Amino acid sequence: MCGIVGAVAQRDVAPILLEGLSRLEYRGYDSCGICTISNGSLRCIKTTQKVRVLMDMVRDEGCPGKTGIAHTRWATHGVPTATNAHPHIVGTLSMVHNGIIENFAQMKETLVKEGYAFKSQTDTEVLLAQIHFLHVKKGLPLKEAFATALRGVKGSYALALIDSEDPDTIYAARYGSPLVIGLGIEENFVASDVLALLPVTRRFIYLDEGEIAVLTTKSVRIYSLDLVEHHHEICESDLDAESISKGKYRHFMQKEIFEQPEALKNTAMGRLGADNADLSSITGFDPKLLEKTDCIKIVACGTSYHAGLVGKYWLEELAGISTSVEIASEYRYRRAVVKDNTLFITISQSGETADTLACLRLAKKQGYSASLCICNAGSSSLVRESDFAMLTRAGAEIGVASTKAFTTQLLSLLLITLYLGRTRKTISAEEGRKIVNAIKALPDAAREVLSGDEKIKELAGRFADKHNCLFLGRGIMYPIALEGALKLKEISYIHAEGYAAGELKHGPIALIDETMPVVVVAPDNALLSKLESNIEEVRARGGRLYVFSQEGSNAFKDDRQTNIIKLPAADPVLQPILFTLPLQQLAYHCAVINGTDVDQPRNLAKSVTVE
Ligand code: M6R
Repeated sequence: MCGIVGAVAQRDVAPILLEGLSRLEYRGYDSCGICTISNGSLRCIKTTQKVRVLMDMVRDEGCPGKTGIAHTRWATHGVPTATNAHPHIVGTLSMVHNGIIENFAQMKETLVKEGYAFKSQTDTEVLLAQIHFLHVKKGLPLKEAFATALRGVKGSYALALIDSEDPDTIYAARYGSPLVIGLGIEENFVASDVLALLPVTRRFIYLDEGEIAVLTTKSVRIYSLDLVEHHHEICESDLDAESISKGKYRHFMQKEIFEQPEALKNTAMGRLGADNADLSSITGFDPKLLEKTDCIKIVACGTSYHAGLVGKYWLEELAGISTSVEIASEYRYRRAVVKDNTLFITISQSGETADTLACLRLAKKQGYSASLCICNAGSSSLVRESDFAMLTRAGAEIGVASTKAFTTQLLSLLLITLYLGRTRKTISAEEGRKIVNAIKALPDAAREVLSGDEKIKELAGRFADKHNCLFLGRGIMYPIALEGALKLKEISYIHAEGYAAGELKHGPIALIDETMPVVVVAPDNALLSKLESNIEEVRARGGRLYVFSQEGSNAFKDDRQTNIIKLPAADPVLQPILFTLPLQQLAYHCAVINGTDVDQPRNLAKSVTVE
């Protein structure tokens, strides 16, 4: 979603702001802009093109100034045009915004009566006019006008505001959208994400909900919306500027696919005993609380939701714990019945997904025994607000399509299952040892599966011109089929749907003909013979099958209608993780062949920070 960068320094800030924006490009955007204060007036440049075009415009047109703000916009109110792009300007004020001002229409009505006219269709310009009204027409100092306007806002925001009449200050605030303050030497910064500021600092302050920050070159002061001063700890980031380089790869997604063996190794590091998982690295870890868990509710969005679905199979089958999984945007708007001793788990790569975060806040009022998040971003809102946090340690994931975040979420869920199963004695010591050994072997097994990339590329060549595709799986491989379909559609724009194979004859089989590719995720497991019958139903109707099977399996035969892709045999508990990998590769190669923007597919944002 939208990206914000701001800087107040003793040097020209445009290069810092533009570098920051290019580091936020992965979040997804449709327009961008920059505004600096130069000789007491605002200098603003905006475009509906990429950040590199904005860089050229800044180079050609000039954008000097030691204080400035910049933005990548993902449209919510108003189409993507240069006028709707941020920064917005009202009088001497300029502002950038991430979030949605839900009551902007009422605000606008009042402001129009006060004589304000609006250039854009955005909620942001309305909020800025409100701040301007309170400052200029009501005479409040800018900090008070800012706080007063924000107290009247319904919705979410991360904001950075400058005033050409107060050229050495940036005002920032957050509620419901992420914002971090970066601390330099005689210069200070604000951004949506630490990644944007890594070239200039590694010292950060994470603003809490409903806080305002006032930044100058000399100081950073933080206040509540009632202007009571708050004091924060300074956090040192262990990420370095290289975290967001593609290295030898053509795309971030490709790099992140191949980083999975290492990422999985990191997820498991220090978390395995002889026959059990060691969860003491979970922040706030409380074994007693976890042990008395009778039920689990998992809530997440998108790929993270699919991880939750896999987790349900493991938690019920191996640990015997009743588990239900819900899409966050649904859960937050229904009445839930919570049984005693139910643990609430959220799963998120970013830890800033608005719906997931809203569910966590709701769950705190609903009588859950505790909240645990499985998250990749250690300093995210989700981690800070959950009772316990298990970090997936996948490293920065920049490609919009989630890959290593997903497989490390799966491994985290497997570790939790192992721990709960051992504690509840549904997993014996011997079974525990077997799972531990399988997890130790996982990075190498993943590496071996990924080495089949050329074969998958060739397969993608036969696939990429298709317009529709079905993905089938059964049991624990059903969510993997859902994830395979999501990956393919989001980056290659081929319409793909995942189905539980047993559901085929209840409707989707009507779609099968010789033009419809059907991808089947078919490792050797207890449901294989059932799956074979489903596959026969497709064959009988002329469907084209692409079956992901495993070495040693006699279940399928290559023929005119059926392509078999064999994965190395591995412990069955690893199948959901290992069978995900070629599906990611398939989606990646189809996208490359189709010439789409692999890392920033159209209309998508990496971190969905608005509802
Ligand atoms: O950061 P989160 O894991 O909470 O994000 C949830 C979804 O937005 C995300 O998984 C999305 O579905 C990805 N684009 C999938 O590749």
